[in-house]
Amino acid sequence: MKRIFLLLFSASEANVQAIKPVQVAAECPDQNIGQVCDGHCYAQFIACKDACSESSCERTCLIEYTGCYADCPCYDNCPDGCTDCPHSICTCKEPQTNNKFYQQCLDERSDELSACLKICAANKSCFEKCFSVFIEESDECPCMDQSLFKDNRYYKIPPPNENNIDYLWKSSSALLNGRIYVFGGNYDGYKIAYIDGCEFVETQIRLINKFYATGGSLVTVKEVHDEVVICEGYTNKCEAFDGNISRSLPNTSIQHKFACLVLLDGQATAVAGEDTSSVETLAVSGWMNEPSHPAGKLSTHTCVSIGNGIITAGGTTSNDNNDGIGFIRDVFLLQNNKWTTAGQLLNTYHYPSMIFTGSYFIIIDGRLSLAVERAEWSGLTVTSSKNISTQETLCYRPIIFESDPNRCASFCSDNFCYV
Ligand SMILES: *[C@@H]1O[C@H](CO)[C@@H](O)[C@H](O)[C@H]1NC(C)=O
Ligand SMILES: *[C@@H]1O[C@H](CO)[C@@H](O)[C@H](O)[C@H]1NC(C)=O
Ligand SMILES: *[C@@H]1O[C@H](CO)[C@@H](O)[C@H](O)[C@H]1NC(C)=O
Ligand SMILES: *[C@@H]1O[C@H](CO)[C@@H](O)[C@H](O)[C@H]1NC(C)=O
Repeated sequence: MKRIFLLLFSASEANVQAIKPVQVAAECPDQNIGQVCDGHCYAQFIACKDACSESSCERTCLIEYTGCYADCPCYDNCPDGCTDCPHSICTCKEPQTNNKFYQQCLDERSDELSACLKICAANKSCFEKCFSVFIEESDECPCMDQSLFKDNRYYKIPPPNENNIDYLWKSSSALLNGRIYVFGGNYDGYKIAYIDGCEFVETQIRLINKFYATGGSLVTVKEVHDEVVICEGYTNKCEAFDGNISRSLPNTSIQHKFACLVLLDGQATAVAGEDTSSVETLAVSGWMNEPSHPAGKLSTHTCVSIGNGIITAGGTTSNDNNDGIGFIRDVFLLQNNKWTTAGQLLNTYHYPSMIFTGSYFIIIDGRLSLAVERAEWSGLTVTSSKNISTQETLCYRPIIFESDPNRCASFCSDNFCYV
């Protein structure tokens, strides 16, 4: 491994430049990936340097650049290319087996293609149109267009605090006015932050009650001004955040601990909990009872609105004496004022999160099976289900939101659970 590396100082030393390191041809099997990787490091270096006003800053950029490309395939720390190289870019060598984000992205694009073809009326130009959309959109998948291997591929999480508690640990998120907000958590139980680009920005606004994603839950409600309804769970207290302030709401009549909040007919609805099967909806006049959950005292489950009803999945039940506890795989549907059983999942779930797309939902476990499962939804039942991934680590109430496949994601940071 030989490389030429020049560091040029101008007379004023204000202009640090790096000449790109050169790999020796024929020695290393993954030179192309290596070059893309170095290109990424170099682009970061240029951006870093451009933001500097002093040469000491530029030199720091240069040191970072050196460290960055040293980890690329075919450079110092990976002399045999992607063989035994931990760099995440190596998952792009054979992404069909090694990059789960690529696989997921391609699965989703294939589903879209299939749906598109099916509605064509034996018309080849319609087929062609579907394929060209597929080809175009597959460009968005990780590893497809290597020039997309750029900065800002992961969400930058602020470092852990002095007690080594991760920024997002046990916090929850909600989409409000097009912005993803993050609330509470062990790092700071009163915090309200949001994602700007690929970074988290803390607002100066504070919650009224401490919030943890384990005991508490939240949901975004469409009002004249949209707001996030947040219930503490460890007490009956609830509040609503509108983007500017958080104000107190009426207490729920029953405590919903380790429960979930969901929209039922547009209203915030608290579903069951460790000590209750009660379901209540926040109306103008306060919390109103809905039919109780058929699983009884259900907790650590998740719920999602499906437009004309809600479904719950995962969690554990306990009997009246609170002495029997068991994880359930059943999915329940509340529609037209009636609960029904709507199928079963493959895995059990403890503090999961769930997202619904219209024809399927994805459920991600927080601390038990660590499963990620996709269940096809007919409108009334789960018709089939498959495992699509496994979480690598515990993540209570994973934060899930829709994003472009390559947005910030595939080379994600250590403590952020992205799927
Ligand atoms: C076939 O599909 C194309 C593209 O969707 C459409 O423009 C065209 O009108 C269709 N032709 C017929 C005969 O339906
Ligand atoms: C709401 O509940 C909390 C504790 O759960 C209690 O301290 C408070 O007094 C209640 N507020 C109202 C208005 O009932
Ligand atoms: C929040 O504050 C901004 C600026 O003062 C204002 O324009 C907006 O209407 C406020 N939103 C709500 C929901 O009160
Ligand atoms: C799904 O994953 C779980 C482990 O989380 C495993 O027990 C189960 O057999 C898998 N099911 C299928 C159909 O692959």
